[in-house]
Amino acid sequence: MKISIFGLGYVGAVSLACLARDDHDVIGVDVDDAKLELIRSGKTPVVEEGMVDLMQRVVAGGRVRVTRDARMAVRESDVSLVCVGTPSASNGSQDQSAMLAVARQIGEGIGAKNGPHTVVFRSTLVPGTVEEVLAPLIAEASGRVAGRDFHVCFQPEFLREGSSIRDYDKPPFTIVGASTQPPVDLLRKLFGHLPCEFHQTSVRAAEMVKYSCNNFHALKITFANETARVCEALGVDPFEVMELVCSDRQLNIAPTYLKPGYAFGGSCLPKDLRATAYLAKMHDVELPMMAAILPSNRAHVDHAIAKVLATGKRSVGMIGLSFKPGTDDLRESPLVALAEHMICKGMNLLVYDAEVHLSNLLGANRRFIEQHIPHIGSLIRSDIADVVAASEVLVVGLATPMVASRLAELVRPDQVVIDLVNLPTRDRIAGTYEGLCWSRERA
Ligand SMILES: NC(=O)c1ccc[n+]([C@@H]2O[C@H](COP(=O)([O-])OP(=O)(O)OC[C@H]3O[C@@H](n4cnc5c(N)ncnc54)[C@H](O)[C@@H]3O)[C@@H](O)[C@H]2O)c1
Repeated sequence: MKISIFGLGYVGAVSLACLARDDHDVIGVDVDDAKLELIRSGKTPVVEEGMVDLMQRVVAGGRVRVTRDARMAVRESDVSLVCVGTPSASNGSQDQSAMLAVARQIGEGIGAKNGPHTVVFRSTLVPGTVEEVLAPLIAEASGRVAGRDFHVCFQPEFLREGSSIRDYDKPPFTIVGASTQPPVDLLRKLFGHLPCEFHQTSVRAAEMVKYSCNNFHALKITFANETARVCEALGVDPFEVMELVCSDRQLNIAPTYLKPGYAFGGSCLPKDLRATAYLAKMHDVELPMMAAILPSNRAHVDHAIAKVLATGKRSVGMIGLSFKPGTDDLRESPLVALAEHMICKGMNLLVYDAEVHLSNLLGANRRFIEQHIPHIGSLIRSDIADVVAASEVLVVGLATPMVASRLAELVRPDQVVIDLVNLPTRDRIAGTYEGLCWSRERA
């Protein structure tokens, strides 16, 4: 394939060398003359394992050209990969000035070219940038129509500095965000041979995945380091602790707990987080990330409360009260927190939870609910149909298969359903559906 690469930093230079190695004709474009000169003479502009030899080899092989001339690069290639920097601006926003300049130049190149062109954005971009900013900019600069005369898509880059050639050849996955099929087919030809899964999604989701991956990596590092600081204070070996933590592949290093849903609660996580924070305080150890978990969890409860209040309705039926399915434990249940708030706001509240039978609640569990909702007995109904029949809004906080199918049968078109748990039967539910952080239709 004939490929132009805009931006010859870590991502662009490694991509240029690897694509040329794989027998593609590559034109590199940059505004930095020093980088262009280095590549022209077979040298690498970035320090990366394997790049010295690879660059020398591919440049000597005659498959690499470099230029400042964006128009020429677009004219003489079928596809442009855009890898320019997107650093932080002083206020934390993304500085897209290089990206905007390149998009405009590529647009002008497309306008001056006969035949189709595909633009693949590989730089990290805040969600919405490709569809709302870059595609319109290219269309305006070229006078051509996106999706017909040219195609745009977003393919996040996952290579890491220090191991970039190895990561290029073995990425965790290939993700292509596109709203038309031709760029996906093109990228399958270019990267489909790599030993990883190839996922096709919307442009916006692909942009967001890149942020989620980086944020998750940062979170993991910070978790290990905060744990190490507590371990140090306690005289415990942090490596041993983290190795054992990571050896649990059921709950820890696993997709478990990584699904969007409602807040956590129960008799363990909140109290243990609090105890960890207190322990750290006793030893003068700062744990800003762990200390932020409970406030973040509370923000999620507040988000659910705001959704219910925004309906403007007064009769609320809650499906679920305990902190998770299959238990009657009400201690620190985030559904109890939601119910309490509804009561404080003077709502007419009814509750159904198949597992919660007040006469069976004992000890700390009984004390907890008596402290928080003393008249809970008058709000609980043993038949879900009674709660549905009497409510304008249904808040679904727990959904066994039985509850999900009963809701599909019982909910009326005039009712609002606020789904905190990603109901499997939501397509069959009459009424206005609102997911806590998602819509009824999934991409
Ligand atoms: N560095 C990484 O490990 C890595 C990994 C994955 C994704 N990313 C993302 O990839 C993008 C590029 O990162 P990088 O580390 O390679 O950046 P970099 O700063 O090393 O390189 C960017 C290059 O773009 C060039 N450039 C600037 N304006 C230009 C223009 N108008 N025309 C042509 N070239 C221009 C610069 O001269 C520079 O050579 C960023 O969005 C980054 O977030 C980086």
